[in-house]
Amino acid sequence: MKVLILGSGGREHAIAWKLAQSSMLHELYIAPGNAGTALTGKNVDLDPLDFDGIAAFVQAQDINILVVGPEAPLVAGIQDYFTAREELSFCTVIGPNKKAAQLEGSKDFSKQFMERHNIPTAKYGSFMKSSLAQGKAFLKSMKPPYVLKADGLAAGKGVLIIDDLQEAEKALEEMLLNSKFGEAGKKVVIEEFLKGIEVSMFVLTDGSSFKILPEAKDYKRIGEGDTGLNTGGMGAVSPVPFVNQEFMEKVKNQIIIPTVKGLKRDDIHYQGFIFFGLIKVGGDPFVIEYNCRMGDPETEVVMPRLKSDLLHYFEGIATGTLSECDLEIDPRTATTVIAASGGYPDSYEKGKVISGLEHSHKGAVVFHAGTSQKEGETLTNGGRVLAVTGIGADIETALQRSYDALEAIDFEGMYYRKDIGLDLSKDKVKS
Ligand code: AMP
Ligand code: GLY
Repeated sequence: MKVLILGSGGREHAIAWKLAQSSMLHELYIAPGNAGTALTGKNVDLDPLDFDGIAAFVQAQDINILVVGPEAPLVAGIQDYFTAREELSFCTVIGPNKKAAQLEGSKDFSKQFMERHNIPTAKYGSFMKSSLAQGKAFLKSMKPPYVLKADGLAAGKGVLIIDDLQEAEKALEEMLLNSKFGEAGKKVVIEEFLKGIEVSMFVLTDGSSFKILPEAKDYKRIGEGDTGLNTGGMGAVSPVPFVNQEFMEKVKNQIIIPTVKGLKRDDIHYQGFIFFGLIKVGGDPFVIEYNCRMGDPETEVVMPRLKSDLLHYFEGIATGTLSECDLEIDPRTATTVIAASGGYPDSYEKGKVISGLEHSHKGAVVFHAGTSQKEGETLTNGGRVLAVTGIGADIETALQRSYDALEAIDFEGMYYRKDIGLDLSKDKVKS
């Protein structure tokens, strides 16, 4: 099969790395890709939002499978673009259509969906400029801290958690009256604050059957001990020790099955990955958010644990035979630690030479997240630069392998958290 992956991060490199192991793969392209994806396939200089350009490439190369890594092309309707064109019908898009992508693209849509299908989530209200007064009254009726979310996509920055009522009212005003988050914040979801521990779950579905991929915990804050600014994610671990069988059953029965069935009942066709951002409160799972794609850096620990052939799954989606595919998961632990550019998530410099990538380390894989290639050198090209994954019999071994591999790598300003996974380490785990 011929595959084109859209995106340029660690998630796309991990998907490319996994697909490259498939005996069913003939050609692999990544658009635009990075210096790491260039080692597993061919990079193509195309913007994931340039649907005409992508379609022309798909036709010219006879691409069978188009894997959409990031959310933006999905929310912009790339799946609908392909299904509307007869001449592109030979190509299956792995990723939901525009309507289904609203699970991520609109918080209000996803909250209504969960309410309609009795899927556990925080209580909420949603408000617009015209209902500002009701929004303030709703805030008054809630207990602190107050959770305010811009309805639309805001690159992970659209969620405010505020302790003080007056400040929360002011933030609501700024979002609704002064367009603090632009279009994304024209509608605001106010939510009950849930106290618990977060975990990411992933499902691949063809709209009827689904495969539950390994779960992961990601580390969102820039600083050690979960301090400082939010980032795209500074590390991840899979499996997650507090996800025991009992919790997993609840997730499956109360969240995953009602979601897949709910989409069907609402006549929303969904093919692709569903990312469930969950929080465990007491022993029970609640949905914090849906994403219509895989997580990053979670993919960098999920793919190494997936023993089954991912391309076989994609073919299963194309032919409606996903239910016949086996699911085999590596019981070992995978950890990934992000090497970031100094200054990230605020401003940072690009173009720093990365050294030490030529060494290989037992049980470690270096995924590229933000890199480019120039005159034989690999350069930094983003805030998150590398995701260094270690695989081992237990979390301690996996972490050791991530950190050993990282120590051999260097670039000016390189920063990484040294405490990824420590909270899950044996002596600290509470279930
Ligand atoms: P979201 O973009 O909806 O995933 O929110 C970003 C982060 O804000 C989440 O990963 C949580 O850490 C936090 N958060 C969002 N909603 C809530 C909530 N209702 N209660 C507690 N924390 C929340
Ligand atoms: N790591 C969280 C995300 O991909 O949204």
